[in-house]
Amino acid sequence: MSLFRTKSLAELMPEEGDGGLRRALTATNLVLLGIGAIIGAGIFVLTGTAAANYAGPGIVLSFVLAGAGCLFAGLCYAEFASMIPVAGSAYTYGYATLGEFVAWIIGWDLILEYLFAASTVAVGWSGYFTAFMTELGITLPPEYTGAPFGVEGTHTLVPSQICVDPASGGVAIDAVSRTPIAIADCVSKGFSIIHGIVNVPAMVLILVLTALLVVGIRESARFNNIIVYVKVAIVLLVIGFGFQYVNTANWTPFIPENTGEFGKFGWSGVLRGAGVIFFAYIGFDAVSTAAQEAKNPQKDLPIGILGSLAVCTVLYILMALVMTGIAHYTELNVPHPVFVAIEKAGPSLKWLGYLINIGAISGLASVVLVMLMGQPRIFYSMARDGLLPAVFGKVHPTFKTPYISTIITGLVAAVIAGIFPIGLLGELVSIGTLLAFVIVCGGIIVLRRVQPGLHRPFRTPLVPLVPILGILICGYMMYGLPVDTWLRLGIWMALGLAIYFLYGRSHSKLNTR
Ligand code: ALA
Repeated sequence: MSLFRTKSLAELMPEEGDGGLRRALTATNLVLLGIGAIIGAGIFVLTGTAAANYAGPGIVLSFVLAGAGCLFAGLCYAEFASMIPVAGSAYTYGYATLGEFVAWIIGWDLILEYLFAASTVAVGWSGYFTAFMTELGITLPPEYTGAPFGVEGTHTLVPSQICVDPASGGVAIDAVSRTPIAIADCVSKGFSIIHGIVNVPAMVLILVLTALLVVGIRESARFNNIIVYVKVAIVLLVIGFGFQYVNTANWTPFIPENTGEFGKFGWSGVLRGAGVIFFAYIGFDAVSTAAQEAKNPQKDLPIGILGSLAVCTVLYILMALVMTGIAHYTELNVPHPVFVAIEKAGPSLKWLGYLINIGAISGLASVVLVMLMGQPRIFYSMARDGLLPAVFGKVHPTFKTPYISTIITGLVAAVIAGIFPIGLLGELVSIGTLLAFVIVCGGIIVLRRVQPGLHRPFRTPLVPLVPILGILICGYMMYGLPVDTWLRLGIWMALGLAIYFLYGRSHSKLNTR
């Protein structure tokens, strides 16, 4: 039964002045951290393909649905975060409610969310950055901006095989037109194919941000705040100016008729679209990993989690309306749909196109930053509980950051970003995050039953309805992900189990209780 041993709240709470992390973050910082983690590759990259392939203008409803799933999960996170304001986030909530074994499973699963999301978004960032450099007349060598391990198809932002026009002196066609080219077309057009060796810009971004995170939480938050103001301002400009160019004819039919195949338009397309753009919402929960650095965690964590989620949900729904209103949804099947939509508005909004690139480049960087911030703090909690080696819990004497786990996270994330393409990584991040959301929702129901008297500074409303709806919507979005992704999740979890039984179980601090 030791698998299901839980930790009491008193055991989980960090002791004040124990050489721990620095409490430097205000409620505003936390909301901005959440927005920093949320607005990124999802809205800037995935919305277009999801609208073009699955939902049409109905993608707006996909955003409403995925947003509702996140809201229900977010309300559950908020209760836990106010009750157990510890850096481990869902891992720690699992430890308090469902036992050590489930806690380990969530902790291991969260690596898929935070560490892999950092890599995924860094790859997306590299695509935007490379293209931006090309526009400025600086061509980066395509071998060093693409991954060596590719996936077939045309939807990778940075194709592992890059078309290069021999006549253009080696300019990557993909980077110039910013549209993906099928490998077959590439060959028939007489382009030579260059295989990616390593994605250098993605790796450099991760290493630079890792250095910032080692130096301090306050410095990192300040950097994040600036970026968030920039990206939100640009999103607001797109919405404000874009609305004037909406052609309402593009919204009819709002939900294009189903093609006869599940998920291809119609209501099933709206559902599938929600599964794809769910990625855009990931990140509000990262706020909870900063619990031990918040000045007033019990009050401010729920504000950070729910505030950032609310702001982004509204922005996303408006963005989706504008994009599908200016351009016909069939035109949005590109890796830079926001830019394409604004381009359709005509020359008068050309200036906004440049800003969109800046918004995407800075916005994606802040997502990477916050994800790279979240992961080491979960490792830190796991090490304090004995489930990981103690070095993961080491705090820097001057900077007061979990520097060893930050550096390890950065190095691993950089290697993954250097060699894998975005498509493969993104779905793994979604399934990992959804699994954590489902377990957190379940945990709320369990803890209300077994420990009804606990002090809950924030209470999830309408329990068990809200957590059950969270489980159903998130579970459904998981169900919609491809079989391959489930398989990879299974392999990842099996690896995690092996580590737990070989190391964590025998080293757990609970053994000496
Ligand atoms: N929500 C984050 C993004 O869309 C992960 O980039």
